[in-house]
Amino acid sequence: MFRKLTNFKLIRQVTHVVGRQFNIETKFDVNGIEIKANNVIKKFPYLWLRDNCKCSKCYNYIADEIDIDLTKLSDSIKPDKVETVKNIISVTWDDGHKSEYNLENFVKNSLMSINESNKELYLWNSELIKTGIPKFSYEQYSKDNLVLKHSLQSIKKYGAAIIEGVKPDEKSITQVCKRIGPIQNSHFGADCIVTNSLSFKDRAYTNLSLKAHTDTVYLKNSAGVEMFHVITPAKVGGESLLVDGFYCAELLRQNHPEDFDLLTKLSVEFNFLKEGAYDFRFKSPVIELDLNGKDLKQIRFNPYHKINLDHLSYQDITGFYKAMRKFTQIIQNKSNELWIGLREDQVLLFDNFRLLHGRASFKGNRKLITVYLSRDDWLSKLNVLEA
Ligand SMILES: [Fe+2]
Ligand SMILES: [Zn+2]
Repeated sequence: MFRKLTNFKLIRQVTHVVGRQFNIETKFDVNGIEIKANNVIKKFPYLWLRDNCKCSKCYNYIADEIDIDLTKLSDSIKPDKVETVKNIISVTWDDGHKSEYNLENFVKNSLMSINESNKELYLWNSELIKTGIPKFSYEQYSKDNLVLKHSLQSIKKYGAAIIEGVKPDEKSITQVCKRIGPIQNSHFGADCIVTNSLSFKDRAYTNLSLKAHTDTVYLKNSAGVEMFHVITPAKVGGESLLVDGFYCAELLRQNHPEDFDLLTKLSVEFNFLKEGAYDFRFKSPVIELDLNGKDLKQIRFNPYHKINLDHLSYQDITGFYKAMRKFTQIIQNKSNELWIGLREDQVLLFDNFRLLHGRASFKGNRKLITVYLSRDDWLSKLNVLEA
């Protein structure tokens, strides 16, 4: 069942059917391994395969941690022998080390990135989401991991989820949050009570309207998921606004590519200044792309906080204003707005890297409790539930 690698351009080509989901083909040639999973082909150098060895010398099973010293491996490492029995691939390397790869685990743990593009986001405007944000019962959410998983998948896909049947008191939102992960603390406090009392010097703490924005744009670790619980609704007004920032960014990319380009490349400085108390600053583009230069990663958009442009050239500053005006027009276009009148028993959860939020002006003593959850924590919980 094996051949010597030397003198063979292609030494093995095997199709493995793993579970119901994966049909995997592996090819070993002189340069590396090529893996075809769900019709996506990816080629990896042998050093990568060697680095993924999970034998007890290369992996510490007590700590569940990798135990490989890269400096001890050769850049030109190659297999001497490859053997396949069912879904186990056994490789003997040219330095004598033996590795075994169980394709099922291998695909799950190492190759999921191949299929990541399949985890599509549903980008929306008001027409495309007219059935509303998906809703889940709190009773089930708090007990049933499947319902928890579906609610987190909803945040991933649509950018938001609503949990209903929650007790309208100041502490309930903490329970909703802790089901996923710990509260992400910030200068606003762990769980903050937002009323029109001006208890914090911020427009949110008035009864004025708030234009669509993302929160904590001036922090490196911006709020990941934001949660709203309106335990006392306003007498008049106070509805919540959601806008899909990724949908708006895609519109900008399509219709004004040069403005999109500028907002993804120009590093501006976001600033939160409360004299004598805070002076947060963070440099980033308004639209942050993944390092692949294509996928949207984070929208930092908040018309209420200063953006410092002092470090930019005259030309860049001019270009920035032109591009920001275009992006703002798209964000403020009525057809991209989703308005929700949140009830006392509903908690709204949304992805602050993607969705913008705002509110209508109001009358009465509206009381909103809000907490943040870090992006790391909610994605980790989702990964665990999807494993
Ligand atoms: Fe906000
Ligand atoms: Zn090993």
